[in-house]
Amino acid sequence: MIVAIVGTAITEDSKTPESQDSGVFLIEGYNMSMTEVTAPNLDAFEAEAARFARALTANQENATLVTLSGDLGAGKTAFTKALAAALGVTDVITSPTFVLEKIYALPEGGAFKRLIHIDAYRLEKGAELAPLGFDESMKNAGNLIVLEWPEKVADSLPKATHALTIGVLPDGGRTISYA
Ligand SMILES: Nc1ncnc2c1ncn2[C@@H]1O[C@H](COP(=O)(O)OP(=O)(O)OP(=O)(O)O)[C@@H](O)[C@H]1O
Ligand SMILES: [Mg+2]
Repeated sequence: MIVAIVGTAITEDSKTPESQDSGVFLIEGYNMSMTEVTAPNLDAFEAEAARFARALTANQENATLVTLSGDLGAGKTAFTKALAAALGVTDVITSPTFVLEKIYALPEGGAFKRLIHIDAYRLEKGAELAPLGFDESMKNAGNLIVLEWPEKVADSLPKATHALTIGVLPDGGRTISYA
């Protein structure tokens, strides 16, 4: 598999660009707060989600919040499914759009006790997260919270540990930007 690393960081505190062997192209930009990965197909996309999932570490005091932005159908739920599978979730993950929130217990020995998948698409403001017990969930370092459509609740969302944006390329490939 060809791996291309396009551009390298010039800042002193830069991370070494990781190499990928899954058909994922890693593009390390000059702005070190942002990394963009291009996944040409669903397999590469799922492999990237799994890589991201395995690299996650828990915060000391609060939950780890991962936000997934991107257009309708970009692949936010698909990313969450692959992330969940990599963390040992065996249930089938469907889009939580109609239930808003799904909570999965994770196998012991990993960085997190629980995966909480929230789809905020149908919410109109951050206050609507309260009935889901969001504030309480954020206080538990054992929680990994993956939230689709953070834009819908931006007015009261804490800063995400990882803010991801999925883009769709003309050929159907996807870009995943990490901030
Ligand atoms: N990387 C990908 N490559 C090809 N197809 C994909 C990819 N990711 C998702 N899809 C397909 O696109 C469709 C929509 O994906 P998904 O439900 O994950 O999008 P979403 O971003 O969660 O959408 P929504 O905004 O409605 O929640 C699914 O049929 C899925 O299989
Ligand atoms: Mg979705």
